[in-house]
Amino acid sequence: MGLLARYAQLLPLTAATPMVSLEEGNTPLIPLPRVGRELGVELWGKFEGCNPSGSFKDRGMVLAVAKALEAGARALVCASTGNTSASAAAYAAAVGIPCFVLLPAGKVALGKLAQALMYGATVIAVKGNFDKALELARQAADTCGYAMVNSVNPYRLWGQRSGAWEICEALKDAPDWHAIPVGNAGNISAYWAGYREYRRLEHISRLPRMMGFQAEGAAPLVTNEPCPNPETVATAIRIGNPVSAELARAAVAESGGEFNSVTDEEILSAQRLLAAKGGVFAEPASCAPLAGLCKLKATNRLPSGIKVVMILTGNGLKDPDTAMTQVGRPVEIGDSLDELLAILKPGGVS
Ligand code: F0G
Repeated sequence: MGLLARYAQLLPLTAATPMVSLEEGNTPLIPLPRVGRELGVELWGKFEGCNPSGSFKDRGMVLAVAKALEAGARALVCASTGNTSASAAAYAAAVGIPCFVLLPAGKVALGKLAQALMYGATVIAVKGNFDKALELARQAADTCGYAMVNSVNPYRLWGQRSGAWEICEALKDAPDWHAIPVGNAGNISAYWAGYREYRRLEHISRLPRMMGFQAEGAAPLVTNEPCPNPETVATAIRIGNPVSAELARAAVAESGGEFNSVTDEEILSAQRLLAAKGGVFAEPASCAPLAGLCKLKATNRLPSGIKVVMILTGNGLKDPDTAMTQVGRPVEIGDSLDELLAILKPGGVS
């Protein structure tokens, strides 16, 4: 069952809202005992890479697109570092309306670009960063009267609250820490709203600390000023002037959380750790929280024994290029068993 049907009572649906669905949501909350042991915490990864377009964006997009159709929209527009465009293009294809996506030229991971093109969106590469593309997309949506499906669209964040609801249902309460990558700062705000709502409804007994992680080269919420030239290997969060900065600051302040930044090197090392000791392949941006937890642990700022949920926002398969820069190549052999056994026996190539 998709999110609109599953959470109909908690979403702003009317009799006229079409029940759009790609069977999004209901993603696995994966226990990560080997990684957790290293950190001295009880650790889970909410693997949003299992959504139909491979990222958390589908949670909000399904509602934004349903409401756009309800309002009679003829086309969708968005700017994106990649995942929003893949999600918007997927839902546009499913419901049969055109989709225009603006991407920062040359800065979008290959898999995301392939998705938007395969789903049939019109893909426009803008000479400029995401922040510039977003400004253009907003102006274009106004001028053409098309539905803007970036997280400035309130239905996006509303739908994304569902991630918090699912975590609370799986753990029967909120975790101690909620660790999440922060780019345009919508998702952390949506999760906080979701947790607060479940607390108000008395489905949970407490609220988590909201721990937001940014890449050092694109960390406006850590430095407290816009970053004019954001740069990071985690292209999904290569954003210098987050639209939802104020909401995100409130979430962190109200929950007693923190913003922290991590270097690209720390992000990539966390990506390998998660894959090699967790069995989960998440894209670089999604690994900023794990990088941050490792850093907090190393500086004695990670309380031991607490329950931590990391949001693994996107699938690692979206960015094969970055992954391949970090790993070795396959071991090549001819077609003989001897060559193979030389590798398989203890002490062979690992
Ligand atoms: N992780 C991934 C994989 C993302 O794609 C994004 C944002 C974030 C984290 C940050 O979430 O913006 O709500 O703070 N991607 C947007 C996009 C900007 O266009 O796909 P946020």
